Amino acid sequence: MKPSGGLQNFLLINTPESMKKVLFGRRFLVGAAVLSVLIWFSIEVIFDRHVSTMSEFKEVRNSRTYDKTHKMALLVPFRNCINELKEFAPHMMKFLNNQRIPYTIYVINQVDDLRFNRASLVNIGFLERHPDCDYIAIHDVDLLPLNPKLNYSFPSEGPFHVSSPELHPLYHYSEFTGGILLMTREQYEKVNGMSNKFWGWGAEDDDLALRILHHGFKTIHPLGLKTGFQNTFRHIHESKRPRDQARFIDEYKIKRRMDVSSGLNNTRYTVESRNTTLINGTQVTFINVHITCDVKITPWCLMEKRNTR
Ligand SMILES: *[C@@H]1O[C@H](CO)[C@@H](O)[C@H](O)[C@H]1NC(C)=O
Ligand SMILES: *[C@@H]1O[C@H](CO)[C@@H](O)[C@H](O)[C@H]1NC(C)=O
Ligand SMILES: *[C@@H]1O[C@H](CO)[C@@H](O)[C@H](O)[C@H]1NC(C)=O
Ligand SMILES: *[C@@H]1O[C@H](CO)[C@@H](O)[C@H](O)[C@H]1NC(C)=O
Repeated sequence: MKPSGGLQNFLLINTPESMKKVLFGRRFLVGAAVLSVLIWFSIEVIFDRHVSTMSEFKEVRNSRTYDKTHKMALLVPFRNCINELKEFAPHMMKFLNNQRIPYTIYVINQVDDLRFNRASLVNIGFLERHPDCDYIAIHDVDLLPLNPKLNYSFPSEGPFHVSSPELHPLYHYSEFTGGILLMTREQYEKVNGMSNKFWGWGAEDDDLALRILHHGFKTIHPLGLKTGFQNTFRHIHESKRPRDQARFIDEYKIKRRMDVSSGLNNTRYTVESRNTTLINGTQVTFINVHITCDVKITPWCLMEKRNTR
């Protein structure tokens, strides 16, 4: 463009009238910006939609140092949900490195033809973990922690329910203990782990809650977070993957009453294979297992095979 053209244009728009227009335009823009910020803040306040910021991640990272005295075994009960694992594994690596938590991810992969048994898989993960790991995280693969202040440290004061009912996106009943729970090796051994009698989806965590109470532990919940149940976690369960919700008569008998006859000390299984591999760039140890079911005690383990979590 010729310089004279630029000069002409400059003179043309800088008449008093056009200056007014420009100023009015600026004021309008500033007003609109202020208004949108105000609306945004009201939405945040009204709906408690506090979004974790990079500065909060940084604040957590700077306040922590690696605790070399403890190591966490992150136990992920698993069957046919590789897509969730591909999102889960790198997310957890970033999240835990930010908190400077030493950990190993164990994917306890049920490869038999029985119904899914989350509790037995956790027991197996506990028994198979490296002895250096002195605490475990019982962790759903479809629940991603978002708030950087969710504390994954060694739970010295008692079992720590990271996904407490006030924070879990779906489950709000007060006894809820599922999702993500941290326990020390001693705590988990003392309660004899989890019951092996729950085949299919649900309720095994309620039994664990009873065991924890029975042994005099107090479950601790996260406190002082600014997030709520909409934004503390991201739930990534694939809706096309159904859950095995079938219930059987005998199964009801052991509900609401602690199972005292099974647990960590009678978990029977065989390890088919194991490997340590990268899942979307994150190191994960697969333990592929066949759980042993005593059909005289829990005939409902054999019910139609379904591909469930
Ligand atoms: C792989 O990890 C990246 C980075 O964490 C994530 O954004 C992406 O969704 C993951 N890929 C899959 C297939 O989940
Ligand atoms: C995290 O939890 C541990 C164990 O309960 C506690 O000692 C520690 O102070 C907590 N850290 C933060 C930053 O809240
Ligand atoms: C397992 O421990 C429970 C008590 O928690 C006990 O009643 C049961 O006899 C033990 N079973 C085995 C096989 O050791
Ligand atoms: C490790 O085991 C998993 C689960 O069985 C399998 O999908 C994967 O291909 C194995 N990786 C290697 C490197 O053998």
